Amino acid sequence: MKYYATRADRPLRGEVRVPGDKSISHRAVLFSAMAQGTSHLTGVLDSADVRSTISAVSALGAEIEVVRETRDGLDLRVTGWGGGGPVAPAEAIECGNSGTTARLLMGVLAGWDRHVVLQGDGSLSRRPMARVTDPLVAMGAEFKSRGGLLPVSVRGGSLHPVDHVLTVASAQVKTALLLAGLRAEGCTVVTEPAPSRDHTERMLPAYGVAVGRDKDAHRAWVDGPAYLTAADVAVPADPSSAAFLVAAAVLVPGSDVAMLDIAVNPTRTGFLRVLARMGARVSVDLDDATGGEPTAVLRAHFTEDLRATTVTSEEVPSLIDEVPVLAVVATAASGTTRFEGVRELRVKESDRLMAVAEGLAALGCTVRTGEDWLEIDGPCQLGSAALDSCGDHRLAMAYAVAALVAQEPVTIDHFEAVDVSYPGFVSDLQALSVSAAL
Ligand code: S3P
Repeated sequence: MKYYATRADRPLRGEVRVPGDKSISHRAVLFSAMAQGTSHLTGVLDSADVRSTISAVSALGAEIEVVRETRDGLDLRVTGWGGGGPVAPAEAIECGNSGTTARLLMGVLAGWDRHVVLQGDGSLSRRPMARVTDPLVAMGAEFKSRGGLLPVSVRGGSLHPVDHVLTVASAQVKTALLLAGLRAEGCTVVTEPAPSRDHTERMLPAYGVAVGRDKDAHRAWVDGPAYLTAADVAVPADPSSAAFLVAAAVLVPGSDVAMLDIAVNPTRTGFLRVLARMGARVSVDLDDATGGEPTAVLRAHFTEDLRATTVTSEEVPSLIDEVPVLAVVATAASGTTRFEGVRELRVKESDRLMAVAEGLAALGCTVRTGEDWLEIDGPCQLGSAALDSCGDHRLAMAYAVAALVAQEPVTIDHFEAVDVSYPGFVSDLQALSVSAAL
């Protein structure tokens, strides 16, 4: 689908509740599927990626009942396979576009003697899986693939614990290893070079499993064997989806947008710290703390005098999914904004580093990029361009934000990719009073 976007002719104003957090939704569904008993989940993101996890765990024997389906997401009742383990599905499990589904499932399946094939769409089939399968093989599981890519065939077995040091911070790999560690006898330890999102560490205790942590050393561990018991989880709104509306409000003159119930776990809010350095008028009003994830009302205002900043490699894991939209904000900031240590963007749903550089250049900006860095000179006036999301949801939405402040109309091809994480993105923008036509 091609999206025809025109410059915003009015400010964005009002209040919005963006959909449930994607990472937390995947984990809530998966952990409930692993648990003994029936879990109740509310506000689960209803998007293509989370639907992939729901279908996968259903094929593996979890019972999922949709209790309510509203614009705030899905309320689910999930009865897990518990100590009996998953069943071997008759067919390959389709993970679609979802790296989180594929990688977390590898960790879950590693500890069970079942034969399962995981496959994905064209984009997911180009993304590296050896970073997950190699340490799981070291634990005792068997994986077969061609060149470390999907489709991957898994045969789990009895596992021994590992003390694994990741070369790249990755919550997906960390989670897979910790979940496998629950089936190993002894302590499985994962250390990262920088802190990645810690939803797994925060959520497993609600399912009755203790997680050890040394935050300064970026280290987490579990003692196995350990079993999950059912829990109730309310999924807060996704900061990565909110980031697009925050950026839009900061860029479109006269805007003032409030976003409710946003998960503001510090491992996810690097973009807010970067925007603060750029002088963006964004406030964070913390809600009363409940459960494992802090939430807040974010309020973003149009900001005229944005300034460039340098995003360091240490802070990249905390804003890994927000680089495309931050790059769009950088086009309005005076000076050169530099992103360092962003090589990992090359193996996301697309090569985001190359795509963002090409997209912003097509819009008329001066952009430079190297193997693991990106620089944008601002401020620059964006012009007309025919862009392609490359089937990447975050590029589609970042370009749609850019289009709001471009002088001339912008087209974005393969815009349907937004369904991966934020199916209501355009209607939320329209409700905040943007003129955009499909
Ligand atoms: C995710 C982790 C991140 C992120 C992805 C979701 C997760 O990937 O990019 O969108 O839910 O664990 P990595 O931690 O592998 O970089």
